[in-house]
Amino acid sequence: MKIGPLDIPSRVLLAPMAGVTDHIYRVICREFSAGLVYTEFVSSNGIIRENERTLEMLHFEERERPIGIQIFGDDADILAESAAYLTESLEPDLIDLNFGCPVPKVTKKGAGSAILKDQGKVGEVCEKVVNAVDIPVTVKMRSGWSDKEIVAPEYAQLMESLGIAAVTVHGRTTQIRYEKPSDNTVIAATKEAVDIPVIGNGDILQPEDGRRMIDETGCDGVMIARGALGNPWILHRTNHYLETGELLPEPDYADRLNLCFRHLQLKEEEKDSTLAAMLMKKNIGWYLKGMPNASTMRQLINTSDESQEMYEILRDYAKELNVKLTAEEPALSYQKSV
Ligand SMILES: Cc1cc2nc3c(=O)[nH]c(=O)nc-3n(C[C@H](O)[C@H](O)[C@H](O)COP(=O)(O)O)c2cc1C
Repeated sequence: MKIGPLDIPSRVLLAPMAGVTDHIYRVICREFSAGLVYTEFVSSNGIIRENERTLEMLHFEERERPIGIQIFGDDADILAESAAYLTESLEPDLIDLNFGCPVPKVTKKGAGSAILKDQGKVGEVCEKVVNAVDIPVTVKMRSGWSDKEIVAPEYAQLMESLGIAAVTVHGRTTQIRYEKPSDNTVIAATKEAVDIPVIGNGDILQPEDGRRMIDETGCDGVMIARGALGNPWILHRTNHYLETGELLPEPDYADRLNLCFRHLQLKEEEKDSTLAAMLMKKNIGWYLKGMPNASTMRQLINTSDESQEMYEILRDYAKELNVKLTAEEPALSYQKSV
């Protein structure tokens, strides 16, 4: 797949996820064949005010490329200014506009998916941001605000006419949040409506779901969010399945514990032991999901405040499961393949 002039090395993309797709997790997911990774959404207001925390969230390394920075806001000029600032200062591969966030704190201000209620605003934002930068600008949107206002196919045409380089469609409306299954027909209609790449998103939890989405919609790529929580293997397994038809096995306990260990190590290189421990709790919980005694292990992990303690817990757990921990020298079972 190509987005503008940018080569995307696999059709399986890691979705932006607030509090999850930080620098370390993006590095890991690129190693697991994510064709493109994104920062979590960042406020355009925070960017132009050079808010320290906002800018910290945008730190990335060369090995994460191709990488998109996702921005949100309600003011077209501020969005354009922040996109120009980021393009100049950080040189991401693309800027992605968030037209999908359903969280009231964001939509009340007219940002995120609330923009979908106002076609004029959609056009104004896309036009100004595209004109402000010389890298591809993409949009990630929900199918519409409600079942009665499905706008993705029509808006994708408008976006294409204004120079947007690709659109991602999550097949759910803002109103249903996550309640009903994602609707592939909206993604198919969007693909029909435009020539730019369309990326399908929603409910890909297994490689076969990715195949089905492409078969049902003709979309150019698929994007995975919740399915990749503690499970970057899904990116590689889905890509491999799409390319070869072969279904690779799920990661085993050793794969999971070793990656969990390595994730903690990487986090510790970046943050101090206490902060690393705090930030890793939810990730470790996700890695251990479905493993023997996972809830007891999660409780233990949640009560530890230092990464050293977490290593000990993981080492004891590995012994209990008769798993050899090799992560002290990182040993991914899938090497970087794209
Ligand atoms: C924890 C979490 C954080 C998310 N943060 C963002 C975000 O920052 N930007 C965005 O566009 N979507 C965000 N999303 C939505 C996902 O990118 C995706 O569109 C949605 O979860 C549907 O995909 P899935 O069925 O694969 O989870 C988030 C989702 C989750 C679960």
